Amino acid sequence: DDTKKGVKGLVDAGITNVPRIFHVPTPQNVKNSIQPSLSQTCLPTINLKGINKDMIRRKEVVKEVKDALETWGFFQMVNHGIPNSMLEEVKKGVKAFFEQDDEVKKQWYTRGLDGGKRKVVYNSNFDLYAAPVTNWRDSIFCIMAPDPPQSHELPEPCRDIWPEYSSQVMKLGICVLELISEALELDPNYLLDMGCAEGLGVLSNYYPSCPQPELTIGITNHADITFITILLQDQVGGLQVFYQDQWTDVPPIPGALVINAGDLLQLITNDKFVSAQHKVLANKIGPRVSVASFFSTSTIPTNKVFGPIKELLSEDNPPKYRGTTIKEYVEYFTGKGLDGISTLSHFK
Ligand code: SIN
Ligand code: FE2
Repeated sequence: DDTKKGVKGLVDAGITNVPRIFHVPTPQNVKNSIQPSLSQTCLPTINLKGINKDMIRRKEVVKEVKDALETWGFFQMVNHGIPNSMLEEVKKGVKAFFEQDDEVKKQWYTRGLDGGKRKVVYNSNFDLYAAPVTNWRDSIFCIMAPDPPQSHELPEPCRDIWPEYSSQVMKLGICVLELISEALELDPNYLLDMGCAEGLGVLSNYYPSCPQPELTIGITNHADITFITILLQDQVGGLQVFYQDQWTDVPPIPGALVINAGDLLQLITNDKFVSAQHKVLANKIGPRVSVASFFSTSTIPTNKVFGPIKELLSEDNPPKYRGTTIKEYVEYFTGKGLDGISTLSHFK
């Protein structure tokens, strides 16, 4: 029953030592302050202002998106159209969910991801038995498209804000997928017509403050299994992306959203765009809240096979991956859990 109280339950109980199941094999390089180091190369920030009115500006942005996805697989976005007040409400709702009474919260608990049978699942380490390391975080996952829960099926603290935010995120995701299609020199609707925005799964994470952050990790390094992910993070920090053999901070920027390319985008673009490995450090400061909106990784009941896009292939650029359904991809990923090993390589 205590597992239903999550990692937060351990902190509430006043533990001062991180239990062994949470220990990582090598200590993490945790900083004492939440400020990013000044010496680091900077993750690109793309300003979306004017992209639908000014075609010259749009072309520049398409180029920036292309450059970012060819190198980092990650970028931040400002002037994306979702008001900061809404972002604040979303984070407030998530915090309120995790900080509500344990008796209420545990009604939402399931051990794993429940095979998509329930629309809303709260858990603490969906891969508790599969993965080698237990992460210092609790999370709640909700499928918001194509078949969203009704209002009464959502937890009370998030009931109003989640549907509003999801519809904004869906609009923004569509806009980004159009830019990405253009960056691939395809028709703007290409990725949408493929179905890249058919499914939207929203994962909200709660990372309690940690008494010994260097011994554990918020999330083990992984690449998302999505086409794209739109990530909202608060101001605590701790998210890092692996770039040029180095872990680099994704510094919180008020009002910004992070985009990261997932494995499925790398697969369909035949490695033209890369899905970056990322992780979240545990932190003495906390709690940290983040909300990851995953495009097309919910268990969509479809047999559609995704492989490298034909228009991008040539004699010099033969397909590097076999085709897969989203279902097969997700099942393989969740079956192995977050083990630090690339999911994509299985589909070579
Ligand atoms: C994730 O990778 O799923 C979460 C990232 C974050 O919490 O910033
Ligand atoms: Fe992720």
